Amino acid sequence: MTLTTVPRKLASPALVLGIESSCDETGVALVQAQPGNAVPTLLAQALHSQIDMHQAYGGVVPELASRDHIRRVVPLVRQVMHEARHPLADLHAIAFTQGPGLAGALLVGAGVACALAAALGKPVIGMHHLEGHLLSPFLSADPPEFPFVALLVSGGHTQLMRVDGVGRYALLGETIDDAAGEAFDKSAKLLGLGYPGGPALARMAEFGDAEAFALPRPLLHSGDLDFSFAGLKTAVLTQANRLGKNACDLNRANLAASTQAAIVEVLVKKSLKALDATGLQRLVVAGGVGANLELRHQLQQACNKRGVRVHYPELALCTDNGAMVALAAAMRLQAGIAQPRYDYAFDVKPRWPLATLEAA
Ligand code: KG4
Ligand code: ZN
Repeated sequence: MTLTTVPRKLASPALVLGIESSCDETGVALVQAQPGNAVPTLLAQALHSQIDMHQAYGGVVPELASRDHIRRVVPLVRQVMHEARHPLADLHAIAFTQGPGLAGALLVGAGVACALAAALGKPVIGMHHLEGHLLSPFLSADPPEFPFVALLVSGGHTQLMRVDGVGRYALLGETIDDAAGEAFDKSAKLLGLGYPGGPALARMAEFGDAEAFALPRPLLHSGDLDFSFAGLKTAVLTQANRLGKNACDLNRANLAASTQAAIVEVLVKKSLKALDATGLQRLVVAGGVGANLELRHQLQQACNKRGVRVHYPELALCTDNGAMVALAAAMRLQAGIAQPRYDYAFDVKPRWPLATLEAA
């Protein structure tokens, strides 16, 4: 029998634990939600990044990722509860990333969340990873207000969404091939930079000339809000081959800067188009690539000119973390659209389009 509670708005303050394990970061956090619309408070969070472990392989090794989540997640839960000075019994619900992500990695977070919740007799809430990213700027010092356009740029996704409220997301456009983070990562690999490539390429780009190489801006004038980054990667490959294995640091830095400029220009121009198309005056940037300082700089400049407000998560909350999962679950509870479950059937959704997320 499936026992699913009827979603209801919060009647009293509630502590929500969030567990993120969709890829290469194990994140755990505790937030407190109040009845009403006040942004939930982050009480404690802990994160273990697997970057060092995957670096030797030049990318995420899914099996190793799952095993490491198994090692980390319970100690991180203990740490967070200890720091927040709350026993597990105080929890109102346990939220976990149900998808999208690596199936094995997701199963670890789901399994631990369900086991813990079953032992405590508390409900679990399966959360969408991208909803976490999308709402993460609410934990910043300058939280947005609904409605807004969201530019979601991570290692696996590049999407423009219209966001009218918690759970009210409409897809405006998305990548038809590689994600922006993938474009950073693959180009970085071609330049002989380590994993994760985005931050490494951004660091190298600081020393280069962004106009040194003429790289394509795919779909810039397509008239829609879709993206394509596969052609850019091929162009970078051609230039990297031309430079050869013994390319000097300046040439590599120039190629890094030119690559970053191409990605950033497309992201900025399409975001502006999305604002025009919706008539909205507010932009939220979230996901790992949102940590890119050049993207932030260019967006800020373009939006200042138009009187558009741009909101970002704190830098530390751009990449994957438990706080965004706990926050999104808490905001769903506040809005009365969370779906807390007591059946503990921890099915994960490795592929799960955000626009199909049910509001209620
Ligand atoms: O959101 P995230 O942590 O994981 C996913 O949900 O995919 O995003 C990771 C992506 C990676 O592709 C990484 O290279 C990119 O974000 N990234 C960056 C920067 N920091 C992380 N890309 C460009 N510049 C950065 N500073
Ligand atoms: Zn992510």
